[in-house]
Amino acid sequence: MAKKIITVLGATGAQGGGLVRAIQSDPSGAFQARALTRHADSDKARALAATGAEVIQGDVDDATSLARAFDGAHGAFCITFYWDHFSPEKELAQVATMARLAKSAGLRHVVWSTLEDTRRRVPVGSGRMPVLMGKYNVPHFDAKGESDGQFVAQGVPTTFLLTSFYWDNFIHFGMGPKKGPDGVLALTLPMGDARLPGIAAEDIGRCAYGVFKAGEIYVGQHVGIAGGMPTGAEMAATMTRVLGREVRYNPVAPEVYRGFGFPGADDLGNMFQYKHDFEREFCGARDLALSKRLNPELQDFDTWLARNKERIPLD
Ligand SMILES: NC(=O)c1ccc[n+]([C@@H]2O[C@H](COP(=O)([O-])OP(=O)(O)OC[C@H]3O[C@@H](n4cnc5c(N)ncnc54)[C@H](OP(=O)(O)O)[C@@H]3O)[C@@H](O)[C@H]2O)c1
Repeated sequence: MAKKIITVLGATGAQGGGLVRAIQSDPSGAFQARALTRHADSDKARALAATGAEVIQGDVDDATSLARAFDGAHGAFCITFYWDHFSPEKELAQVATMARLAKSAGLRHVVWSTLEDTRRRVPVGSGRMPVLMGKYNVPHFDAKGESDGQFVAQGVPTTFLLTSFYWDNFIHFGMGPKKGPDGVLALTLPMGDARLPGIAAEDIGRCAYGVFKAGEIYVGQHVGIAGGMPTGAEMAATMTRVLGREVRYNPVAPEVYRGFGFPGADDLGNMFQYKHDFEREFCGARDLALSKRLNPELQDFDTWLARNKERIPLD
């Protein structure tokens, strides 16, 4: 039987890369990854090709290349790239194109990597948190949640994959523990005592593959995934044990975090505030047991940290 092709957007990235590797390493061989990249000759693209994935050059801003990438595919993993451009409008426009082309290609299953539109719980301008870019609370969340409607409007069979905070942010995103004035490492997050759903970025792709393999049962549903929901204090305690250096949890107020001044600090400050203030709803929208069923290799925080401890930059 012919393999079912899954077109993977963001294939050289964290989420999409995990999916390509999950597809290509499945001994059942039921699916074939078609990896979209803007740079087919890059090292990352070559590494994907070495797994047997089809690598196809294209850009989600170029509709012709995206249509070519969807042509003849069974399904697609759709994702946007907020931190490359900081534009929710760009995400909205890209998803509109993805949904339109998914429909015209007759895709049977799209997995859309999304997040909550926080404006459904926190009306913009309510005073709870600053309004950003004129109409958002958390721009990189809100535009994704709003974009869910594009797939619905086009009638594309879609699973809405609600992702979680990458633990890889402690390696790549500057969120790892930093030495305080007293010389002790501090993990600074504006989460108080609330639980923070998190996941290894690679596991998002593996969970997405579980959704594709499950077939139609998750079409039309939001599937929330996480590898664990530790508090800041619990993560600091795990870091202390696994890294062999004392790491203290340093909970700060969201307004302090927003004021840190790095690009996106206000967006992330609002994001953490939302996760803190709506801990029950945010955690409740993510299902650890389901995540494990979709991806039996799912890592919890301890496992992920033990495997990645050498990669955490420590001041
Ligand atoms: N950090 C977190 O905790 C977190 C949690 C949940 C969700 N997210 C969301 O995850 C998304 C990013 O996913 P990621 O972390 O997997 O990304 P990533 O690792 O930064 O990789 C994204 C890949 O997408 C490709 N790409 C970028 N622009 C493209 C375009 N115009 N057309 C085609 N391909 C393009 C790039 O590949 P080439 O250069 O090879 O083309 C890049 O390798 C963001 O929207 C973010 O909001 C992040």
